[in-house]
Amino acid sequence: MQKLVFYITGSSSGIGLALTSYVLKQPDFRVIGYARRCKMANPNYTHIYADFSLPGIASSVEIPLFETAEHIVLINNAGTLGDVKPVGEIDSKMLEQTFTLNTIAPAVLTNRIISLYGKTKAKITIVNISSGAARHPVESWAGYCASKAALDMFSLVIQAEQRLKEQQKVTVLSVAPGVVDTPMQDLVRQIPVDIFPQSERFHHYKTQGMLENPEKIAKKIVELIFNPPNETLIDLRNR
Ligand SMILES: NC(=O)c1ccc[n+]([C@@H]2O[C@H](COP(=O)([O-])OP(=O)(O)OC[C@H]3O[C@@H](n4cnc5c(N)ncnc54)[C@H](OP(=O)(O)O)[C@@H]3O)[C@@H](O)[C@H]2O)c1
Repeated sequence: MQKLVFYITGSSSGIGLALTSYVLKQPDFRVIGYARRCKMANPNYTHIYADFSLPGIASSVEIPLFETAEHIVLINNAGTLGDVKPVGEIDSKMLEQTFTLNTIAPAVLTNRIISLYGKTKAKITIVNISSGAARHPVESWAGYCASKAALDMFSLVIQAEQRLKEQQKVTVLSVAPGVVDTPMQDLVRQIPVDIFPQSERFHHYKTQGMLENPEKIAKKIVELIFNPPNETLIDLRNR
């Protein structure tokens, strides 16, 4: 019997891979990972191929049900910066894909998980991996900033709905992880300064050793899951 089940999107790289590895250190935790690549081999890990930038995938992808689970955790971690350009120059198709991956997929998966486990005895925790960029504008990151800001508001509404209930079944956290040393940051540093005016700041983080280690961030996120704070919007830089 599986007591604790994690569904983790973007389980193949960076924060998602670190979370998957960290969770699987517990012999009785089960992980269902979603991504285009599979980077994990473990008897307690099941990989499901999904490209969440495509319309309809989050509504149709398999979500295996564990009827007797006591605690279900969905970590909406898969994300993209998208096409980094000022508005007016962004590739429109890529802009659509950014919102599909960063906002629509997490919203739909959350809706499905709460519906699927609504009548079981399982406690549900939703963790949306947001960004500081959801809360501050960054030039040339309009799609990224806005798609993550929508995720923050989606989380706040779920929490408000839960407060209306006698018993809170669902806990939701929208977590800005800080600046973390992952392939996404490698990508940020490759964007030329004429397209991305804040580029210098991100080079500085790397050269000054200011990037957070993904394993450390994974540990902090798991600690939040088991000891949730009262607030919904979390910034790990303050913890
Ligand atoms: N690193 C940072 O400093 C930082 C800061 C703030 C927020 N974040 C957020 O943290 C999350 C993880 O980022 P990361 O830094 O760990 O990036 P990463 O190393 O690039 O990993 C991104 C993950 O998302 C998955 N993904 C990307 N496109 C996908 C698609 N179309 N369908 C399904 N999965 C897809 C990737 O899997 P596949 O390529 O195998 O599909 C990969 O597992 C993102 O939501 C990001 O916005 C990161």
